[in-house]
Amino acid sequence: MVSPIKIPDNAPFSPEQRQWLSEFLGTMLASASGGAAPQAGPSVPVTVLFASQTGTAEGLAKKLVKTLKKGNFEPSLNDMATYDRERLPKEENLLIITSTYGDGEPPDTALELHTWLMADGAPSLEGVSYSVLSLGDSSYPDFCQCGTEFDTRLAELGAKRIYDRVDVDVDPDEPYAVWSKAVIALLSPAAGAVVTSGAADEEEHEETGFSKKKPFPSSVLKNHNLNGPGPKETHHIEISLEGSELSYEVGDALGLYPENPEDVVDEIIAGLPFKAGEVPTSTGEEVSLREALIRHYDIGNINKSLIEKWQKRSGSPYLRSLVEADDRKQWDDFCWGRDLIDLVLNYPADFTDGEEFVSVLKKLQPRLYSIASSPKAHPGEVHLCVGIVRYDSHGRKRGGICSTYLSDRLKDDTKPGVYLHHNLAFRLPADGNVPVIMVGPGTGIAPFRAFLEERKVTESKGANWLFFGNPHSATDYLYKDELEGFVADGTLGRLDLAWSRDQKEKVYVQNLMVKEGAEIWKWFQEGAAFYVCGDASRMAKDVDAALLTIAKEHGKLSDDDAAAYIAQLKKDKRYLRDVY
Ligand SMILES: Cc1cc2nc3c(=O)[nH]c(=O)nc-3n(C[C@H](O)[C@H](O)[C@H](O)COP(=O)(O)OP(=O)(O)OC[C@H]3O[C@@H](n4cnc5c(N)ncnc54)[C@H](O)[C@@H]3O)c2cc1C
Ligand SMILES: NC(=O)c1ccc[n+]([C@@H]2O[C@H](COP(=O)([O-])OP(=O)(O)OC[C@H]3O[C@@H](n4cnc5c(N)ncnc54)[C@H](OP(=O)(O)O)[C@@H]3O)[C@@H](O)[C@H]2O)c1
Ligand SMILES: Cc1cc2nc3c(=O)[nH]c(=O)nc-3n(C[C@H](O)[C@H](O)[C@H](O)COP(=O)(O)O)c2cc1C
Repeated sequence: MVSPIKIPDNAPFSPEQRQWLSEFLGTMLASASGGAAPQAGPSVPVTVLFASQTGTAEGLAKKLVKTLKKGNFEPSLNDMATYDRERLPKEENLLIITSTYGDGEPPDTALELHTWLMADGAPSLEGVSYSVLSLGDSSYPDFCQCGTEFDTRLAELGAKRIYDRVDVDVDPDEPYAVWSKAVIALLSPAAGAVVTSGAADEEEHEETGFSKKKPFPSSVLKNHNLNGPGPKETHHIEISLEGSELSYEVGDALGLYPENPEDVVDEIIAGLPFKAGEVPTSTGEEVSLREALIRHYDIGNINKSLIEKWQKRSGSPYLRSLVEADDRKQWDDFCWGRDLIDLVLNYPADFTDGEEFVSVLKKLQPRLYSIASSPKAHPGEVHLCVGIVRYDSHGRKRGGICSTYLSDRLKDDTKPGVYLHHNLAFRLPADGNVPVIMVGPGTGIAPFRAFLEERKVTESKGANWLFFGNPHSATDYLYKDELEGFVADGTLGRLDLAWSRDQKEKVYVQNLMVKEGAEIWKWFQEGAAFYVCGDASRMAKDVDAALLTIAKEHGKLSDDDAAAYIAQLKKDKRYLRDVY
C-alpha cells in the first residue's frame, strides 16, 4: 500500500500540487522499498552544504549526511565557511540547509559564498541539481530571506531545482523530515527507500531522551538579580539537570519553555466576544482556553502574518489599510511595542469560538539562553544570565514573556521545561594553548563565564582576554567577584571594562578595543580566536567595524585586504559570534 508523504503546510504548493507530490513521493518510496537490491548501481554523490549561526542548520546537515550514508549515496558535509566555491559548478547534487540572521542576512559563515554567488561574475550552474531547506522565523519581516536568495540565484544561474524550497518557521523537525525524505527519494528512489525507513527508526530511538519535543522538567536551584538598584535587571539562574541525562559543552545554549502572564491572559479572555470553552493545542490535546493561552499559544509581540489573519475577522478600517498598503515601515511602526492584548482591546474581531481564535495564533516558542557555566565546574547544573525585558508602550507596562516568567512568575515548585541546544558554531579552540579574546557586554558575558571556568578547570595554557561593558560599574558589574577572582588566579590575563554611563561620553567595548588595537593585532598574529556575544543589532556590528579598523591601522591593510582578513578569520573559525 502507498502511504502518501505529508508535505509541510508552509511548502509553497497549491492544494493540487501538494496532493500530487505527496502521492508521487509515497509511490516512489513504496515501489523502491519493494526492490531487493536497492544498493545496486553506482553510488550517488551528494554535497550537503550548510550555513548556521547557532547550530540548528549544522545539526540537520549532519543528520542528513548520516542518513545518506546508510544508502547508496556518497555524501559530503560542507560548511559554507570553508567550502571551495570553485567546486560549485561541478556539483551533481547539492542540498543546501541555511538559516537567516540579522535583518534577513546570511549567517556569518555564509557571507562570503553568498556575496560571490550574488555578484555579476558568478558562474553558470547548469548541470547542478539542488534543493534548499531554509530555516527562519516568521516573526522576522525578512522570513527565510537567505535561503530564498540562494534558491532563486541557483535557479537563475541554470541549476535544476529538484524539489521546491521548504521554508521552516522555527520548528524544523517536521519540515526537515518531509524535505529530506523527498529529496532523498528524488535523488535515488531505490537507495532513498532504504535510508528513509532506517531514519524513521533512528528518530524514534532518539526520541527516548529529553529534547525540544520532550523538555526536561528542571528544578531551579538559585535565581537572583545581579544588578544593584537601577533600571537594569539581570538574573543569574542555576538549574539542575539531575536525572535528565542531558549533557552539554561550553558554547551551547539552553532552550526554556515559558508561560504567559495569567493577568494578561485573563484580560484577553474578558475582551473576547465568545464564551471561553475547550480548545485544541498543537499537540492535539483539548484544554481550557485559559490554560491554552498560558502554556501553548503566543500572546506576545504581534507581526504581519497575525494581523493579516486578524484583519479578516475585524471590521477595522485601519487594519484594512495597513494590510492593503503592505508597507514595511508601516508594519514595523504598528507592530513595535504592541502585543495580542492590543488587538483584542483596540481592534476587536468577531471570532465565534475559542478554536477559531487560537487557529490564528502561533505556538508559544521556547527561548534560548547561552549557557553561563562549564559542566566540568558545575556537574549536573546549567547556569544562565538572563536580561529581564521590561518596557512601557502604548500606555501599558509590558515584559518579555520568558525573561519575566523567570524573574516574576516562577513558584517554588515550578519545573521549567528545558532542553539543550548544541551550538557547534561557538566552541572554544580544541587546543587549550590558543589565546582567546572575548567581547561580551551585558548578558553577552554568559558564555564567557563558562569559557573561563572551562579554561581554568582544564588548566589550559592559552591566554584569555575579556572585554565586558555595562552602564555603571557600581550597579552593573555582573559577576564582579568571579571575574576579579579569575584575574587574581591568572585565568584571565586581561580584563577591559567599558562603563558606558559612568562619564559624560559613552564608552563601549569597541572603543576599548580600538585603543588596544596594537595588542589585539599582536594576539591575532599569535593565532588568537575572537569571540563576540550579546546584542546583534548594534554592538556586534560596531565590534565588527572596530576589528576592520584594527586590521587597517595595525596590520597596515587596505580596505579590501582588511575585509578579506576578517572574512578569513571567520572561515578559519577564529572569529565566532553568539549574537541575538
Ligand atoms: C542563541 C541565543 C542565545 C541567547 N542568550 C541569551 C542570554 O544569555 N541572555 C539573555 O538575556 N538573552 C539571551 N538570548 C535572548 C533570549 O532568547 C530572549 O530573546 C530574551 O530573553 C527575550 O525573551 P522574552 O521572552 O523575555 O521577550 P519577548 O517576549 O520575546 O519580547 C522581546 C520583544 O519585546 C519587544 N521589545 C523589547 N523591548 C522593547 C521596547 N523597549 N519597546 C517596544 N518593544 C520592545 C521587542 O519586539 C523584542 O523582540 C539569546 C538568544 C539566542 C537566539
Ligand atoms: N531578544 C530580546 O528581546 C532580548 C533579550 C535580552 C536582551 N536583548 C537585547 O540584547 C542586548 C543585550 O542586552 P543586555 O541587557 O545584556 O545589555 P545591553 O543593552 O546590550 O547593554 C550592555 C552594554 O552595552 C552598551 N551598548 C549599547 N550600545 C552599544 C553598542 N552599539 N556597542 C557596544 N556597546 C553598546 C550599553 O550601553 P548603553 O545602554 O549605555 O548605551 C551597555 O553598557 C540588548 O540590546 C537587549 O535589548 C534582547
Ligand atoms: C538575532 C536573530 C536574527 C534572526 N533574523 C531572522 C530573519 O531576519 N529572518 C528569519 O527568517 N529568521 C531569523 N532568525 C531566526 C533563525 O533563522 C532561526 O532561529 C534558525 O532556526 C536558526 O538556525 P541556526 O541555528 O542554524 O542559525 C533570527 C534569529 C536570531 C536569533
